Amino acid sequence: MNNTVLPPLRDLEPEVQQEIDECVERWSDQEGNLIMILHEIQNHHGYVPREASLLLAEKTGVPLARIYEVLTFYHYFRLVPQGKHQITVCNGTACYLKGSARLLSELENRLEIKEGETTDDRLFHLETVRCIGCCGMAPAVVVDGTTVGKVATTDIAGIIEKIHIQEETNE
Ligand code: FES
Repeated sequence: MNNTVLPPLRDLEPEVQQEIDECVERWSDQEGNLIMILHEIQNHHGYVPREASLLLAEKTGVPLARIYEVLTFYHYFRLVPQGKHQITVCNGTACYLKGSARLLSELENRLEIKEGETTDDRLFHLETVRCIGCCGMAPAVVVDGTTVGKVATTDIAGIIEKIHIQEETNE
């Protein structure tokens, strides 16, 4: 189990309950069904809400601990909702040698979160990856799907600011 801080429990909307019921029924006789159900839940919500895991444990009889074992074993699954804007720092060898660790710590300081976390206002999610295949652009950061190359620590404030401005002008 990792140290992810889970969001508080909330009541599941009736549609979500129904969706989980259908999902359990659809996969009930199939092998590997727990994973398939969890995939469906994550595809729908962007993460696997704790309420959904509790309901799933109740419906399937699979112990909650087993469900969390699966959720934490596969990195694909997310236990907390993602931020609206995703910032991914490449931590592959080329980027690391060109200072990606400094970029990451600058982002962590400015956003006041650690890698893998989302800001409280859910605006930013910060992650790292191992090589995005643009080593010539090292150190590289991906901001909402757009790769930014040769990033300097001093560029970080501007990257964050640009997103804030975008958000304000969209309001
Ligand atoms: S190591 Fe960063 S793009 Fe390859």
